[in-house]
Amino acid sequence: MAEIDYTKRKFAYYPTNAIVYSKCIDGKWSPLTVTDNFNLDLHCFAGIFHYAPSCFEGLKAYEGVDGKVRLFRPDENAMRMQNSARYLDMPAPSTELFVEACIRCVQANWEFIPSYQTGASLYLRPILIGINPQLGINSAKDVMFAVMSSGVGTYSGAKSLVPGTAVISRNYDRAATYGSGGYKLGANYAQSLHAYNIAHGLGYRELLFLDTATHTHIEEFGSSNFFAIKDNTYITPDSSSVLPSITNKSLRTVAEEYGLKVERRKVYVEELSTFEEVNSCGTAVVITPICSIDDKETLEGDKILHTYKIGSPDQCGPISEKLYNRIVGIQKGLEEDTYHWTLFVDKK
Ligand SMILES: Cc1ncc(COP(=O)(O)O)c(C=O)c1O
Repeated sequence: MAEIDYTKRKFAYYPTNAIVYSKCIDGKWSPLTVTDNFNLDLHCFAGIFHYAPSCFEGLKAYEGVDGKVRLFRPDENAMRMQNSARYLDMPAPSTELFVEACIRCVQANWEFIPSYQTGASLYLRPILIGINPQLGINSAKDVMFAVMSSGVGTYSGAKSLVPGTAVISRNYDRAATYGSGGYKLGANYAQSLHAYNIAHGLGYRELLFLDTATHTHIEEFGSSNFFAIKDNTYITPDSSSVLPSITNKSLRTVAEEYGLKVERRKVYVEELSTFEEVNSCGTAVVITPICSIDDKETLEGDKILHTYKIGSPDQCGPISEKLYNRIVGIQKGLEEDTYHWTLFVDKK
């Protein structure tokens, strides 16, 4: 096989060797199967094709500076999938099954784990879908849980910590105030794709969603959480319609370790003019500094109500960079994992 240049890769699907799956039929989970068949054999009346009983996760396997391979907080992804499945009223894999499937997937695709020097990683995509044939509007009784993988570079292809721009979505909402935004459901992403496409077509790196009820406070970006730094305080929105990001949770812990105050609260749009540093955060690249945010009347229209400029357009804010280095340091074995966040995976 030709040598893969992971430094040129984006966050995208690239073929690997195998996937791992288990099915829960009539309440009974099958043993994990590892297969090189990437095509699922599904009944065309399976719920997934109609009412979207579907949730998923995303986490990474990293080769560390010591050559050892680590997963970052997979138990948190397992619990989030369980919460998503509970919301959909469908069976969920136990934490043990979830983590074991991730480990088996990494082992089966070992040759696709990018080396430490590339800065790339093996992204794992666990999915849980309803598979029993149905016509009535019911939650899925039987499900398939699978873990797939892709050797990925950075999300946008840009170098890490390069600031980007964002736009506020005023005429498209992501998740209703009392809706499903706090769960990682496929349906949430389907509903934001159109707005996402417009924002990206206009050249913005990120799309920032507001609360649906009042459009006055910030919720999160299309595929990452929002956090800001001001007066040595880490500020992030507190809302049940925001996805509980594992990166954000980890950053809050590290922020406290570094003596920052941490505030989870409503964050109003106008506050953007007072923040020293603003970032999006998530598994894909840990943080992306945001240096400019356009508040437009509509995404498609020309009218810009306000442009918020934050920090330098050329570099990440100093506090955010410190937090980033600590998280990445733990993920890559450069710093002591005092929180026991990483799980080592052996080649087998
Ligand atoms: C909507 C949304 N918010 C936040 C995140 C970040 O979550 P995490 O840090 O667990 O990757 C993601 C990515 O998974 C996401 O899709």
